[in-house]
Amino acid sequence: MTLAAAGAADAGALAALHAAAFPPGEAWGADAIALMLELPGTYGIWSPGEGFVLARVAGGEAEILTLAVCPAARRRGLGGALMAAALAGAALRGAAAMFLEVAAGNAAALGLYLGLGFAEVGRRRRYYPDGSDALVLRRGLDPAPGAAS
Ligand SMILES: CC(C)(COP(=O)(O)OP(=O)(O)OC[C@H]1O[C@@H](n2cnc3c(N)ncnc32)[C@H](O)[C@@H]1OP(=O)(O)O)[C@@H](O)C(=O)NCCC(=O)NCCS
Repeated sequence: MTLAAAGAADAGALAALHAAAFPPGEAWGADAIALMLELPGTYGIWSPGEGFVLARVAGGEAEILTLAVCPAARRRGLGGALMAAALAGAALRGAAAMFLEVAAGNAAALGLYLGLGFAEVGRRRRYYPDGSDALVLRRGLDPAPGAAS
């Protein structure tokens, strides 16, 4: 796996990866992804053809917008590597904590996040279109040397 920064010009390829990773109906379009990547504080990291993460830093806090690994590339550490890169990127941008939302029944993502030190700090009832709850997870970040403040 080779991780690289993903920008708005990669939005078409990122949308294809998102569609491969999530159920039909939950796919994010290329235009929406390109718009997000043009917003200040939003950044993307990807392994072309395999998976990507989008994250945003604002007001000293970071959040994961989405994380997607295509089925053929799973269980080889890519999701963990993308998350580690997103966490490092958030610390470099001056964030003190990372937040994310995950469906309560998403065992794969929950296993990944809890293994990375995230802890549950809240629950949004019936958050997803299928009626399932979202768990809100948080992890503190160590400031990176020379980070923005
Ligand atoms: C969640 C997802 C990103 C994980 O990607 P991945 O590349 O397979 O993750 P990794 O190989 O880095 O796995 C790291 C750890 O996560 C946990 N994990 C990953 N997949 C798992 C599964 N199917 N069941 C249980 N635990 C799992 C394990 O603890 C794993 O460590 P291990 O392989 O040593 O046991 C991937 O399954 C995916 O894209 N799912 C669909 C989209 C999604 O749910 N995104 C997150 C939305 S919040």
